[in-house]
Amino acid sequence: MPRSVYHIDLTEQSIEGAKIALMPGDPGRVDRIATTPPFEGSREIAFKREYRTWLGSIRGVPVLVTSTGIGGPSASIAIDELAQLGVVTFIRVGTTGAIQPDIAVGDVVVTTGAVRLDGASTHYAPIEYPAVAHHEVIVALLEAAREHSIRARPGITCSADTFYPGQERQDSFTGYVPRRFQGITEEWRRLHVLNYEMEAGTVLTMTAAMGLRGGCVSGVVVNRTSGESISKADLARGERNAVQVAVGAAALLVTAGN
Ligand code: URA
Repeated sequence: MPRSVYHIDLTEQSIEGAKIALMPGDPGRVDRIATTPPFEGSREIAFKREYRTWLGSIRGVPVLVTSTGIGGPSASIAIDELAQLGVVTFIRVGTTGAIQPDIAVGDVVVTTGAVRLDGASTHYAPIEYPAVAHHEVIVALLEAAREHSIRARPGITCSADTFYPGQERQDSFTGYVPRRFQGITEEWRRLHVLNYEMEAGTVLTMTAAMGLRGGCVSGVVVNRTSGESISKADLARGERNAVQVAVGAAALLVTAGN
């Protein structure tokens, strides 16, 4: 009896032996990723809650694109269930706010390790355990960025469970940032953290702890040293570059035979 999993509504049969998954947060981004060349023959195979999956092939190798929803808890379900079906390589494709002044909108951050300011990852490994990307995925992401002439910054990401207080944003309902987070952006900046996003800590802790391969590429949509608001044009630019790099990295990994 082929294995099936509950939340993401997939089976061993429906994923046709795919071993690599690209994972945006937004279900609306799934088809855009799965139709970016060199993807071929992509089609939707499941859509339940925030988990939308398309299956296509790159150079004859099946590759999945599955959305995770926002944040660690929902991402953890997608990763765990895809791993149960045999997926071994997970590349998160996201957007991010840079916190270093020399990172521009449209650049991509290739996360080498993440500050675990989340909760979900602590259910998979104690907080002392590092959230680190797999070296082969990092290399593929950097090489894909170079091939597409997209400026990539490898380094440390801060993954927060909240978009507003956890990233020290004042553009929230109350504008209040609890004491725990006041001044934290400056601290991360001085500790050479590059950016804020919301899933890498969970993705990379889980993949490392489970003996799988994980990576994360995020398109920069705002630089927090100059503001908090995100324009539609900047969002589109950051998204486009992250997608290009993620699909390019998947192509490099399948070409290398893994
Ligand atoms: N995603 C985040 O989590 N933070 C940002 O600033 C932009 C995208």
